[in-house]
Formats: sequence, C-alpha cells, structure tokens
Amino acid sequence: MNIKIVYATKTKHSRKIAQAIANGFNIQAENYLNNPKLEDVDLLFLVSGIYGGVSDPKFLQYVASLNPSSIRIAAVVTNSAGGTFASEGVRQTLKDAGIVVYPEAFICRGAFLFFYMGHPNQTDLESAVAYAHRVREAISGQ
Ligand SMILES: Cc1cc2nc3c(=O)[nH]c(=O)nc-3n(C[C@H](O)[C@H](O)[C@H](O)COP(=O)(O)O)c2cc1C
Repeated sequence: MNIKIVYATKTKHSRKIAQAIANGFNIQAENYLNNPKLEDVDLLFLVSGIYGGVSDPKFLQYVASLNPSSIRIAAVVTNSAGGTFASEGVRQTLKDAGIVVYPEAFICRGAFLFFYMGHPNQTDLESAVAYAHRVREAISGQ
C-alpha cells in the first residue's frame, strides 16, 4: 500500500507527530512546503496545527490543490493546545476537492506558550501511531 504523510507546521509539533507516524510505516514524513509528489497514493495522512481557532489558510490552499485522482483516501490529524478542534477545515477542503476522507479524524494535544507544555508527548505520539495503523488496517480490508 502506498502511504504518504504530509505535514504543515509552525512550531514543529505536527512534524513530530508526522515523523512518529512515518516511522511506524518505515517511510519519511514530508513538509507540504516542499510540494511532495503524490501519485497513486492509497492513503494520505495530513498532519497540521490550529492557529486562532482555524487551520493555516496557506495549508488549506495546498489541500484544495490536491489531485483527487491520485489519492484514494485521506486521513486527518490535527493538533492544538485546546486539543478539541475537529480539523473541520482540512476535512471540508478535502471533500470539496473531491477526495474521500476517512471518517475518523485524530485530534492530538499540542502546546501553546505555557499551556500544555510538553505536548505532544510520548503518549500522544503513540496514540497517533495507533490511529494511523487502525486506519491502514481498516482501508486495507476495503
Ligand atoms: C500563533 C498560534 C496560534 C494558536 N492558536 C491556537 C488556538 O486558537 N487554539 C488552540 O487550541 N491552540 C492554538 N495554538 C496552539 C497550536 O495549535 C499547537 O501548538 C499546535 O501543536 C501547533 O502545531 P505546529 O507546531 O505543528 O504548528 C496556537 C499556536 C500558535 C503558534
């Protein structure tokens, strides 16, 4: 199965989460700013943060530009200090682009200033990796 992991980050939390997921699949996580090649992708993980309550508009622009015929399904991982944002911006943008979105999103605790310092921590990373494997198992049966 061709799995890709693309992240957008301002303070490196999403990179950390993306790299943990990528290590679990023995692949490399890629920064969207490097415009990674996405061809014949069976499963794309998008990992990003929340700023002022929303996703980075530049990242959403990138998501909107993805080619639906190259991506079978996308799964969304979001991290924020509040830890409750449902990554709706990324999910909706994927749907609008005609890309199938895996129903379960993963929401990870990040940190901001002195709020939730140390997150994403080892437990957060392990949960993200477990989520990614669950998604792979689920779609490999389809
Ligand atoms: C400028 C800025 C604004 C943020 N705004 C929010 C916010 O509105 N709500 C929230 O829960 N977290 C907020 N955060 C926390 C980030 O979502 C959290 O640190 C996340 O892990 C950042 O991911 P990144 O390191 O990949 O950029 C903000 C962080 C920054 C730097």
